[in-house]
Amino acid sequence: HGTMSINEMGNLEIGNIDTVNLAKKYGTPLYVFDVKNIKNNINNFKVGFKHPKIETEIIYASKAFLTIGMCKLIEEQGLSLDVVSGGELYTAKKANFPPNKIYFHGNNKTIEELILALNYGVNKIIIDNEYEIELVNYLCTELDQNVEVLLRVNPGIEAHTHEYIQTANNDSKFGISIFNENICDIISSITDSYHMTLKGFHYHIGSQILDEVSFIKGIEVMMNFVKKIKLTCSYETKELNLGGGFGVYYSKEDSELDLNSCLKNMLSEVNKISKENNITIPKLLIEPGRSIVANSGTTLYKVGATKDTFGGKSFIFVDGGMADNPRTALYDAIYEGAIANKMTNENTNEYTIAGKCCESGDIVIKTITLPKADKNDILAVASTGAYNYSMASNYNRLRKPAVVFVENGKSKVVVKRETYDDIIRNDTL
Ligand code: LLP
Repeated sequence: HGTMSINEMGNLEIGNIDTVNLAKKYGTPLYVFDVKNIKNNINNFKVGFKHPKIETEIIYASKAFLTIGMCKLIEEQGLSLDVVSGGELYTAKKANFPPNKIYFHGNNKTIEELILALNYGVNKIIIDNEYEIELVNYLCTELDQNVEVLLRVNPGIEAHTHEYIQTANNDSKFGISIFNENICDIISSITDSYHMTLKGFHYHIGSQILDEVSFIKGIEVMMNFVKKIKLTCSYETKELNLGGGFGVYYSKEDSELDLNSCLKNMLSEVNKISKENNITIPKLLIEPGRSIVANSGTTLYKVGATKDTFGGKSFIFVDGGMADNPRTALYDAIYEGAIANKMTNENTNEYTIAGKCCESGDIVIKTITLPKADKNDILAVASTGAYNYSMASNYNRLRKPAVVFVENGKSKVVVKRETYDDIIRNDTL
């Protein structure tokens, strides 16, 4: 992926840097981010999500991967930011990310989080439920502030992806169903508020979606909703946030989503349906997370022991595992990898890559064919940029790895490796 290449020593390079040297310099496990690839991915969205008749905005879904350095990069690239918690918001604030380009999401924002957001000047809130309408109205009144609001709705679509990352079926915890009988009342409870301006609606059909059809279906259902509520509630939608969910390549098992075609077809579908139904074309927003960072991240591990089991399995043990990448255990995710210092060797052996946690499910890659592995080899696992660092834990009191940005032969640490003191920092007697 991205700027990966193989050098004359047969080692894997990312951003023109030898990953074996990166492992030596910064230690392992190490999350390596290819900055140029992040910029390319962002550019693909800028190029693809454009239409002469439609105003558009791209919002990075920070849950996929967020650090202060990432906020800076996102700001520099001109994208807006989606945050879903006080912690993500605090990170954005510490990076001086412009508050008027932050969208605050979440199905159960706490009072404390909402106050933090309002005090920072965040003025775009995606409302999830009726209680939140009351709460935001109350807090805005107290703090004498005004906010723009999108109402998150659930279009009742089941996209083809893992059950745990489906978000828009009829029993989803997110948003208010488009079939809700009181939808007009809910809309007026926002439009009646002096402090809230309802800009429109937000929906998100799931994550790691690889078929364009699901996205187009989402547009059709939602534009039909826009039309319906114009007629029944006399509410005209100014903005429609289509969510994220654009799937990426992890392994040969995945069909590939043609992002450019998907974006273009989503835009023309909105244009077409708006024209046919005499609807003012809404401004369109998207919130990609994974598709910006997943294939920009690689995890480097050092190989320790290898073990052939009595049952005939060959394990490679690495110095990380489910604590830095829980996705295999959680979602049966499939990753590709390589031995970074043996890129030109022949792939001869079938292995299972396991981590060092005290748990049998601590697997990084279930099956992979690699050159014969030895202790101290550097194992590179590809496409670990999304939902790895952000979902990492300290299970077994492992220290979270460092995060390094690489570009044009240069590397810099954007998150330091945790220390044992970090591990006990909040322990008290
Ligand atoms: N917008 C909303 C409202 C979302 O809920 C999400 C993801 C996104 C945007 C960004 O979706 P993306 O473009 O990254 O697919 N932990 C899971 C993924 C959970 C996604 C949650 N919501 C995983 O590791 O696969």
